[in-house]
Amino acid sequence: MSKKRILTLAFFSCFIFPGVAWAQSQGIDQRVEDLLKQMTLEEKVGQLNQYSGKEVTGPVNEKNTNQLNDIKAGWVGSMLNVKGVKDTRAIQAVALQSRLKIPLLFSLDVIHGYRTVFPIPLAEAASWDLEAIRLSAHIAAKEAAASGIHWTFAPMVDISRDPRWGRVMEGAGEDTYLGSLIGAARVKGFQGEKLGGTDAVMACAKHFAAYGAALAGRDYNAVDMSPQMLWESYLPPFKAAADAGVATFMNSFNTLNGVPATGNSYLQRDILKGQWNYKGFVVSDWGSIGEMIAHGFAKNSEEAALKAITAGSDMDMESVAYKKSLVKLVQEGKVKQELVDDAVRRILYKKFELGLFDDPYKFSDAKREQKVLNDPQHKLIAREVAQKSIVLLKNENNTLPLSKNTQTIALIGPLVQSKRDLAGSWIVQPGDTTIIVNLLEGVQQKVGKKTKLLYAKGCDVKSNSQAGFAEALQTAKSADVIVMAVGETWDMSGEAKSRTNINLPGQQEALFMELQKLGKPIVAVVMGGRPLIFDQIADKASAVVFAWWLGNEGGNAIANVLFGDYNPSGKLPMTFPRNVGQIPLSYNFYNTGRPVLNEKNIVYRSAYIDAPNTPKYAFGYGLSYTTFGYSDLKLSKSKIAPHEKLEVSFTLTNTGKVAGEEVAQLYLQDKVASLARPVKELKDFRKVMLKPGESKTITFTIDQNKLSFYNQELQWVAEPGDFKLMIGTASDNIKLTGEFALAE
Ligand code: GLC
Repeated sequence: MSKKRILTLAFFSCFIFPGVAWAQSQGIDQRVEDLLKQMTLEEKVGQLNQYSGKEVTGPVNEKNTNQLNDIKAGWVGSMLNVKGVKDTRAIQAVALQSRLKIPLLFSLDVIHGYRTVFPIPLAEAASWDLEAIRLSAHIAAKEAAASGIHWTFAPMVDISRDPRWGRVMEGAGEDTYLGSLIGAARVKGFQGEKLGGTDAVMACAKHFAAYGAALAGRDYNAVDMSPQMLWESYLPPFKAAADAGVATFMNSFNTLNGVPATGNSYLQRDILKGQWNYKGFVVSDWGSIGEMIAHGFAKNSEEAALKAITAGSDMDMESVAYKKSLVKLVQEGKVKQELVDDAVRRILYKKFELGLFDDPYKFSDAKREQKVLNDPQHKLIAREVAQKSIVLLKNENNTLPLSKNTQTIALIGPLVQSKRDLAGSWIVQPGDTTIIVNLLEGVQQKVGKKTKLLYAKGCDVKSNSQAGFAEALQTAKSADVIVMAVGETWDMSGEAKSRTNINLPGQQEALFMELQKLGKPIVAVVMGGRPLIFDQIADKASAVVFAWWLGNEGGNAIANVLFGDYNPSGKLPMTFPRNVGQIPLSYNFYNTGRPVLNEKNIVYRSAYIDAPNTPKYAFGYGLSYTTFGYSDLKLSKSKIAPHEKLEVSFTLTNTGKVAGEEVAQLYLQDKVASLARPVKELKDFRKVMLKPGESKTITFTIDQNKLSFYNQELQWVAEPGDFKLMIGTASDNIKLTGEFALAE
C-alpha cells in the first residue's frame, strides 16, 4: 500500500474509530450527563456525603464504623483527612468496587504546606509579596498532589479585625484589598492555571461568609452586620477567589444576621451561584449542617438536610444529614430532584476535570511522592518566604543586625529551642519535627567560630514558675547581647483558640524585666499566631522582631534577619492593639462626629479615658535596616471625569546604607459621601527593592473601582466629590498627601 494511501486511511480513520482524545474532547458536561443518567437516587446522594478519616479535625458526633461498607456501596463521594499514597490508594480501591466505580475526592487542610511547612498564612500576608505567597501555595499543592490529595481546604479568606479570634492565623488579616489579592494568589498557587495536573489541587475559598466577624472574637459565635459591611469588607476576598477560578467554596459555622451560613440561600444561591454565577461546589464545614439544630434553625437532622440542600450546600462534611434524609426528602417531594442533581453535577464535574475517571490513582504514585516530598528546593523556598514574613517592630540605636563575630550571645526564653511551636497550627504532619530548624540551630549555623553561644530557657511559655530565672540571669550575665524568644505556643491560636487576653502568657515578660536589669542590649523575637500585647518588652527591649510561626525554616529565617543576611521588609497585615479593650480596632476606622483631634483634649470626644485610640503598632507598619524617602508626588489631574483614570506618581529613594525592600502603600479617603466613609482605605501598594541611594518612580493608577463603595441601596458606586490621597510607609505614617476630585 502506498505511503499516500496509508496516510489517507489514517486521516479518515480518526473519524471512524474515536480514540481517548475524542472521548475527552466530548466535553466533561456530556460525560457528567451520561453518568448522571445511570445513577440511582441513593448513588446521587452518596456523592454529596463526605466522611473524615481517623485524624479528625472537628467534634465527632458518633463513631462511624461503617465507612468502608458505605464507600463500597456508593454512599460516599469524598474523604477528608486521609493522606499519603498508601492510604488513598487503598480507600480508592474500595470506592472502585461500587456499582458505578465513581472515584472519591481526597481532601485535606493543606493550609500552609504539606510536608514542607511554610509560615502561617497571616505571616505570609506580612510579606505583602504576592508571588512569594503564590509560590508557597504551589509548593504545598505539589507535595499534597504527590501524596494522594486532590483538594485542599484553603485559602481561608476571612477578613478579621479581632485578634482574640484564634483563626486570624489562617487568613490575610484585616484589610479587604490586601486580603482579596492574597486570596487570589493562593488560589492560583494551589490550582495552577488549569486543574488536572498532578502538581495542583483544587482550592477552597472559606469560610463563606463573615466568619471572621464572630461576636467578641469567640470562635463559632454569631455574626451581625449591615449589608454594606458584608459586601464592602467581607465578601470581596471570596469574589476574588471565585474570579481566580477557585474550584470549591466552604461555608461557615456562624449565623449571619440570624441565618446559619450553611442554610443561607442569600449567601449560597442568590450571591454565589446567582449573581456570581459560580459553577464549582460548596462543601459544608465540619458538621455545620447538623449544627443548625443547635443554632435553633432546624428541629432535627431531616429539616437540617432540607434547609441545607435548599440553600445551596452541595456536600455534607461529617454531619451525615444528607445520607440519612435526602433520599426520603426527594421521594416525599419535599426536596426537588433537580437540587440534588445540580449538586451531583457540580461534584462529578470536578472529578472529571481532575482526570480521576480516566485514572483514579493518578495522584497516588509512590515514586512521585518520595521524589516531591524530598525536593531540597522546597525548604529553600520556605526559608525565602519565611524571612519575607518577619516584621521588624523596633531597632533602637541600630542594635540589629548583630555582628556574626559578637563575642558572646545569650539565647534566653521558652521559644529558643522549640521546634513544634514554629510550625504553628494546621500542619499536616505534626510528628515530623526533625525537619524544623529552631532559633538556636538557626543562630548556631549563622555565627562565626569565635562567637560563644549560651542558652537558658528561663521559663515556660504558659507556666507561672520563676524557677528558671536564676539560671537565665546567670547565663545572660556574661553575654554581650541577649536574644530572647518569647510568645504563645502553637496551640494558642487556630480553630477554637480564642483568647480573652492576648498578652504573653506565663512569666515571660517578668523574666524580660529581670534580664533588663543587667543593662545589656536585649533583642526580643516574639512569636505567635495573632497580634499580641507585650508592652514591657516593646517599650524596653533594644530591638523587637515579630516572627509569627514561620514553619520548618523559621530558625534560619530569623537568624538571617538578626545577622543582616536578610533586611526585614515585612509590614503588619493586622493592627496590634494596646489592649483588648480597644478591639475591634483597625486602621480603616470611621471619623465619627467627634474625632480626637489632639490626644490631650478628649473632652466630649470619641475616646477612652484610660488609653489612646491609636494602636501599639498600626496596619502596614514594619521597619527596615535602611530608610526610605518619599518625594515628588504628581497627579495627572486635579479633577477626573467619571470613568476617567488618575495617574499618580512619586519618587521612592533608599536613603540608607543597605539595600532593602519598601512596601509603599496608597490610601484614599472619600471625604464626603452618601454614607460616612473610613478615614482611609488601602487601594494599592508596591513592594520595591532599592539599593542604597537608588531612587525609583512609582506609579499608581486610580480607576473608578478604587473610588467606589456600596451605597444605601447596595449599589457599587463612585460618587462625585473630593478625595484625599495618602502615600506612606504605614497606615499611620503617611509621607505624601494630595487631593483630587471626581466630577459629576
Ligand atoms: C474545620 C474547619 C475548616 C476545616 C474543616 C476540615 O472545623 O473549620 O476550616 O477545613 O473543619 O478539617
